[in-house]
Amino acid sequence: MAQTYSFDVEPVARFAGQNAAIRRPRELTFFSYDEDHQLRHDASSLRYYYPPALPCDLNRGFETFRQLDDSADDHLDGLLDALMLYEKEKGQKLETDVITWRGMMTKIMVAPYSSFDDWEMNATCFQGTIFIEENHNKKIASRQEQFSTPARPGAMSQDIMSFWGYKFETVSLLPEPWSETPREYIDSREDEIVSNYAQYCSIVRTGFGKVKMIIGGEVDAVMDFKPEDKSQPINWVELKTTAAVTNERAQVKFERKLLKFWAQSFLLGVPKIVVGYRTSQGILERLEELDTQAIPETVRLRGKNLWDGQTCINFASSFLEWLKGVITEGGVWRIRKREKSPRLEIFKIEETGHGDILSRAFVEWRTQG
Ligand code: A3P
Ligand code: MG
Ligand code: MG
Repeated sequence: MAQTYSFDVEPVARFAGQNAAIRRPRELTFFSYDEDHQLRHDASSLRYYYPPALPCDLNRGFETFRQLDDSADDHLDGLLDALMLYEKEKGQKLETDVITWRGMMTKIMVAPYSSFDDWEMNATCFQGTIFIEENHNKKIASRQEQFSTPARPGAMSQDIMSFWGYKFETVSLLPEPWSETPREYIDSREDEIVSNYAQYCSIVRTGFGKVKMIIGGEVDAVMDFKPEDKSQPINWVELKTTAAVTNERAQVKFERKLLKFWAQSFLLGVPKIVVGYRTSQGILERLEELDTQAIPETVRLRGKNLWDGQTCINFASSFLEWLKGVITEGGVWRIRKREKSPRLEIFKIEETGHGDILSRAFVEWRTQG
């Protein structure tokens, strides 16, 4: 039996007092997946926000939804491809402690307040950097379980609710800046075919405590345009649909959801979240713009003690600093959080190599010369 290392999540209160330093995320590079989901080293899938007309029926077009089949495991491929190109262009290899997708960091950050989460990641150390990917098999299994749970009588199916999120993007975004978009396009967005093939991924440098990291993740759009000057912050915007808040119970549910909205956007430095409130039948009725950085304070002032942003940052910093001392060599490591478990567990599942976490091209590039 391999040794199991564990990192206690609970008691959560021990992370409250610290003040772990964080760095403002800065975009290092980016890439797009196009309408065929082919990777392109450009900004062709960047989208621009322009508010939709309300009310808007988010159900329209469900029959023609172009839904990406994500059953294949892409590992860290797109991220590593983009980093490899960046390194070749700069003639210099990137030095950092951790490289991963934003989604992995979100799961880690929210762990202190997500006792029900159940997830697995794979990690390896290569040339002094820890690479972390999702355990894809576990993700597929969890999703099948979730989608096979029958909806409550009268409730909408998971599939249609997931469609609403993409429909909201389609009716709220433009492929060109607003000033270059014909009015007819803006007014006909409700008729556009909804597709989740295209994506723009931003890759940022950031840091938690003493841990330097590079993370990549999808961003939905920019508010106006992306500045040419790379030192300027980017006006990213994240879109989220959610059920209209009609009573105190729904308010609590929403405030819990805000933890995930906040962490996800915080990690890539997305300053604004546009929340689209919809009815239980999928009619979009109202929009609200939230400032990402103000969310933890807003939730705190409501006084229900549902979650604390600084605790999440401190927890992630402590965990990653600890992880740096555990994963110091090759082989494949599993990082696991089980439902209701008060700790994260780390153990080796392959003695040597890097499993499929690293692409062959990336390893070849890094080991040549
Ligand atoms: P909503 O978040 O508005 O529901 P993202 O918000 O991260 O940009 O994702 C866009 C949309 O993808 C989501 O919109 C949702 O519709 C869908 N989606 C994302 N993660 C999902 C998941 N785990 N299960 C089902 N749908 C998901
Ligand atoms: Mg998105
Ligand atoms: Mg979104």
